[in-house]
Amino acid sequence: MKRIIIFGSTGSIGSSALSIVDQFPDKYQIIGLTARSQLEKLKVQAETFRVPYLVVESEEGRKWLQANLNYKPEIFVGDEGLRVLSQLDEVEVLIVGITGIKGLIPAYYGLLAGKRVALANKESLVCAGNLVNQALLSGGGELIPVDSEHSSLFQLFCCERRSYIRKIILTASGGPFWQWPLEAFEKITPEMALRHPTWKMGPRITIDSATLMNKGFEVIEANQLFGFSAETIEVLIHPQSVVHSLIETVDGSLFAHLSLADMRLPIAYALSYPERLNLPLKTLNLAEISGLSFHPVDISKFPCLKLAYEALKAGFPYPLILESADEVLVEAFLERKIKFTEIPLLLEKTLNEFKFTKAWKETVEEILTLHSEVKAFTEGMIHKR
Ligand SMILES: NC(=O)c1ccc[n+]([C@@H]2O[C@H](COP(=O)([O-])OP(=O)(O)OC[C@H]3O[C@@H](n4cnc5c(N)ncnc54)[C@H](OP(=O)(O)O)[C@@H]3O)[C@@H](O)[C@H]2O)c1
Repeated sequence: MKRIIIFGSTGSIGSSALSIVDQFPDKYQIIGLTARSQLEKLKVQAETFRVPYLVVESEEGRKWLQANLNYKPEIFVGDEGLRVLSQLDEVEVLIVGITGIKGLIPAYYGLLAGKRVALANKESLVCAGNLVNQALLSGGGELIPVDSEHSSLFQLFCCERRSYIRKIILTASGGPFWQWPLEAFEKITPEMALRHPTWKMGPRITIDSATLMNKGFEVIEANQLFGFSAETIEVLIHPQSVVHSLIETVDGSLFAHLSLADMRLPIAYALSYPERLNLPLKTLNLAEISGLSFHPVDISKFPCLKLAYEALKAGFPYPLILESADEVLVEAFLERKIKFTEIPLLLEKTLNEFKFTKAWKETVEEILTLHSEVKAFTEGMIHKR
């Protein structure tokens, strides 16, 4: 029986993870859940699974849960609560489905404590990949990707020697707008951008998928997870979202990983690896697919992808600046303060104009502080423009 904590259990990844665990009660036991704002949902989850440890963001949240839960778990608060839970002796696997830089806390401290970290949170790798890798090395834990393309690559790597792989290819659905003419991008509203054609996800990642910023972050993530350089990571638009990634070997062979677009698959694999679970999910019927197509990315429509490659080549802290600024800009777009087309423009401006107040060290505390500074700078820029 593996004991599991789900960080961000009230979100899209967290809920999918709970549904997998629910189907295998003889294999997995939930011993911890964390949430930020959805306390009612956390209460239902906690009572259903009788979870002994919980984390909420604020003292008021803790008091509300204490008053409303029908049993008495231990309830921790804030960043310290996330750290304590990720290092509990009795936990074996951490599923990190928190959105944003706070995902770094369980990823870093969990790896340092030698746990298996099933990582969906991409911000931690984009902003602090070196730090996460250091924790992996020194703690002796396991880092298993949950992001679908990276899980797919992880599975492909099991079949081929690394020295024979020349290139990796990440596929992108292209989001709702890849076939639109560039002139029409000015008119994109949050409602249009939130309608993702193939995946059902949280709002931040859905907007990032529409700008292809998400794919840019995934390029950086692939570099941090697997050590491939920017030059050996390619992105192709594949609107059917059936092929999640490909690897090209030195003799020119291509290997692809295919499945239906369902995050329960990579979550389950990260839990069971190197075993596989017998999942009762709908499977891909190749005979029903009318065709699989692949297209190059038009960078004039999706400059965020170019910015990601540039930030990756420039190295720390540029990927962090890109990610922090993007968090603010996506929120501003959703609140109708900026246009869709302003996201890449203001990202580039932040990358060029953010002034460093000191030489930043790659520690969890400094990364969280720098992240806040970049966010404040980006907010200022939105107001000034
Ligand atoms: N959804 C997908 O299919 C998918 C695929 C690949 C990768 N990912 C990555 O997985 C992560 C989660 O994505 P998601 O779509 O599941 O997001 P989501 O639906 O917005 O859920 C985010 C979760 O994190 C919690 N949370 C948010 N901010 C927090 C903070 N500052 N401190 C503590 N907890 C916080 C939320 O709590 P409350 O809801 O209670 O506020 C919620 O439980 C992201 O990094 C995303 O890029 C997601």
